[in-house]
Amino acid sequence: EKGGYDYFMLKEIAEQPRAVADTLLGRVTADGMLALDELRLPAEELRDVRKIVVVACGTSFHAGLIAKHAIERWSGMPCEVELASEFRYRDPILTRDTLVIVISQSGETMDTLMALRHAREQHSKVLAICNVNGATIPREADAVLYTHAGPEIAVASTKAFLTQLVACYLVALYLAQVRGTMPDREIARTIGLLETVPAHISEVLDTVEPVRELARSLVGERCVLFLGRHVGYPVALEGALKLKELAYMHAEGFAAGELKHGPIALIEPGLPVVVIVPSAAEQPLLHGKIVSNIQEIRARGAKTIVIAEQGDISVVPYADSLIAVPAVPTLLQPLVTTVPLQVFACELATAKGHDVDQPRNLAKSVTVE
Ligand code: M6R
Repeated sequence: EKGGYDYFMLKEIAEQPRAVADTLLGRVTADGMLALDELRLPAEELRDVRKIVVVACGTSFHAGLIAKHAIERWSGMPCEVELASEFRYRDPILTRDTLVIVISQSGETMDTLMALRHAREQHSKVLAICNVNGATIPREADAVLYTHAGPEIAVASTKAFLTQLVACYLVALYLAQVRGTMPDREIARTIGLLETVPAHISEVLDTVEPVRELARSLVGERCVLFLGRHVGYPVALEGALKLKELAYMHAEGFAAGELKHGPIALIEPGLPVVVIVPSAAEQPLLHGKIVSNIQEIRARGAKTIVIAEQGDISVVPYADSLIAVPAVPTLLQPLVTTVPLQVFACELATAKGHDVDQPRNLAKSVTVE
């Protein structure tokens, strides 16, 4: 049942090219636009939406943080992202023209379900992005977009996360399509680029052996930091979460711009710091900022582990380890940069002798409060 792998997590990481492709399948028309009639949210209703609020927990929350960039860029609509456990206990300003998007792999997470009910009581429409057919959250939502990751058994979310991202991108592009905020040919071009992502993920998986070696060399470490900017920031949070839950190590993700506001005091000789670098061509300003962040931490002795686009030679002098990933547009980058971080956490945890499918103290779906 593990398909020859030692752990479900390894199998699920390997399944990601297929999972991403399946989530796109059947949702694109012959002329390259989106057909999401399955949403059951009529175009008129989507045109009336004035604000989007994304609510989720854990890894699904990280997908939401990335979705915000795509939703705001493509559909021009303001988007907030909030942890379900915070949202449900306050009085968020929701109206009939707020669309609440809840993201949940299992569709059973208690805090997310309660957040959904909280939103519906205030007459907001709720769209669920979910992986488990017929789970409670999709049943109670006004609309559903299923991810087609297939069953995810390992506690740590991997393929569900990438497919949640794809589903969020589809929603963002669909909003742009029905609201006319993006030219049709741009929508079709972006979908075309999304369709190339499975091949890029396969390429990352085929070249990931050095990441494994690196992970094994760090078993003795007590702490690893992760830095990113823009969509790289939630990827840093996700890399840190994976390491915490699987390797039981102190791991923290920061927005790289926050370094000077406190976290830089943590940097000491030998501390491993993973940095996710945006594309130099597409984001020259951010790229320059992060390269100087890498220089700053290296000057203080950090062991820099740099994830950058293939061909980005500007980071070579400052990277103790360099993980090169295929070049994709910035908004799609998390689909490739997350993969080495999953492998990194999985390998480090396994090297420490932990069962990565069943980390201590954790359940696959958190149905309690
Ligand atoms: O099933 P859900 O997506 O609602 O679960 C949310 C979190 O419990 C989940 O993503 C958790 O953080 C994962 N174990 C992370 O790998």
